[in-house]
Amino acid sequence: QEIRVFAPATVANVACGYDVLGFAIDSPGDEIVVRNSNKPGLQITKITGDDGKLPKDPTKNTAGVAALDLLKHLGMLDRGIEMEIHKKMPFGSGLGSSSASAVAGAFAVNKLIGEPLSKRQLLPFAMAGEASADGAWHADNVGPCLLGGIVFIRSNEELDIAQIPAPKNLWAAVVHPDIEILTKVAREILPKEIPLENATQQIGNLGGLILGLIQEDYGLISRSIHDVIAEPRRQKLIPDFYKAKRAALSAGALGFSISGAGPSVFALCEGEESARKVGAAIEKVFKEIPVNCQLHISKI
Ligand code: HSE
Repeated sequence: QEIRVFAPATVANVACGYDVLGFAIDSPGDEIVVRNSNKPGLQITKITGDDGKLPKDPTKNTAGVAALDLLKHLGMLDRGIEMEIHKKMPFGSGLGSSSASAVAGAFAVNKLIGEPLSKRQLLPFAMAGEASADGAWHADNVGPCLLGGIVFIRSNEELDIAQIPAPKNLWAAVVHPDIEILTKVAREILPKEIPLENATQQIGNLGGLILGLIQEDYGLISRSIHDVIAEPRRQKLIPDFYKAKRAALSAGALGFSISGAGPSVFALCEGEESARKVGAAIEKVFKEIPVNCQLHISKI
């Protein structure tokens, strides 16, 4: 028996929801194949698309760690399993690459052994995989990657998470400029303390964004997509960030910010046509620098 799993890229933070809000996009995404083997234990037999960066040692990549954590929990570490990892997105892209592999690893192995756990119950194992990559514990990539759609995390520690319905015509334009930003570095440049005024603004915007999504109020969504905490610090790592933001907003985006820790950026848009127009405007800014980039348009 062979199980083939696709796990999508995700946009974490969604501007004002640092570490607590994220959504999945249709593509890109990682693929994992697992099959039973006569040799005891988990073996990673093939990795593609990683430019040779990922070790085959399952304790040293997020898919392996997530799968091993799950098997350990179930007392099945001796079970013979072969795993192939096919990376379809770059590391350090801000698209939740390590999370996608972690989710796919846990999901595929769970399926192969007869689905003892529900999708939701896989969350802590996928989280363990993801945390092994960036050393931090946040479910804003893993949550939406596993469950799909938009996911809000009330508590990362308790893994108290909920899906939020998306307005019918909400689309995202996600652009990945070809530079690498390590999440660890992008987290280190954030302040440990923030002024009360900024906290109040951020809370207001996060509440407004969630309410806007639930009530399908595009005006409220647009007024709420602002990040006064991470974006002002992290934008320095992304060339011509504010130029791209101005271009996206003039092309009709509801809002624009950094996807996860960057360098990818995203715009939320009303309708596919708007998302394509906004995506092209963002791409143009990066290409003029010149920086190569890839555009992904997705319904949310
Ligand atoms: N919420 C995380 C961050 C996402 O912004 O650091 C990184 O993948």
